[in-house]
Amino acid sequence: TVTTTETTEAEADTTTDGAAVEETAEAADAAEETADTEAAVSEALADGMLTAGTNAEFPPFEYVGDDGEADGFDIALIKAIGEKLGVDVQVDNMEFASLVSSIGNKIDVAIAGMTITDERKEAVDFSEPYYEAVQYVLLPEGSEIATAEDLKNKTIGCQLGTTGMFLAEDIEGATAQTYNRAVDAVNDLVNGRVDAVIIDKNPAEVFNTKFEGKVKIIDGADFGFEAEEYALSLIHISE
Ligand code: ARG
Repeated sequence: TVTTTETTEAEADTTTDGAAVEETAEAADAAEETADTEAAVSEALADGMLTAGTNAEFPPFEYVGDDGEADGFDIALIKAIGEKLGVDVQVDNMEFASLVSSIGNKIDVAIAGMTITDERKEAVDFSEPYYEAVQYVLLPEGSEIATAEDLKNKTIGCQLGTTGMFLAEDIEGATAQTYNRAVDAVNDLVNGRVDAVIIDKNPAEVFNTKFEGKVKIIDGADFGFEAEEYALSLIHISE
């Protein structure tokens, strides 16, 4: 019995030590990653300028203001970050689908209501999430579409390269009709060229107000769409 107990204790010790070693290695990796990230960040900021890419077709997060400049929640957020870092912020307005590939060359970071996805994580790193959203379904006022089943075989408008597009592509028999600007998808919805538009909650609400009486919105949760988290994306360091 004594022997058994000892063995068990010894095993337990080994396990603990093994875990400890692993933890230490993990901590070292994490520290190294943090150091790499910090080095990359200071390199990006060495010129005293943080260049942020966005796609100002996504109110209220980003839109082109009356003065022709990008404005909105994300723009205010990145400017506040720049202030904290003590650098100037330059905002580059570009196509949403070009943002990820521009990080590390044309831009330092992207801030564009961008949802954290596993696919994007292969190309970029994400900050901590700063907002939780979900896709909404925008419909013509009199539409009978109400369930996931109803979206099958329909023509669905969406912005190119967005999670709304990925969802539309996954709907059985449906055609994803893509646009560079979300508002063009909404115009085609009003004109009867598409049956529905899939777009994030807050822009859906803005468009619902803008096209009042012509469109209506339904929470994507009713269609089984899952919650999404927005984050800043920056140059990929790890692995
Ligand atoms: N959240 C969606 C995505 O990450 C849509 C973001 C669109 N953002 C924009 N600025 N146009 O794919």
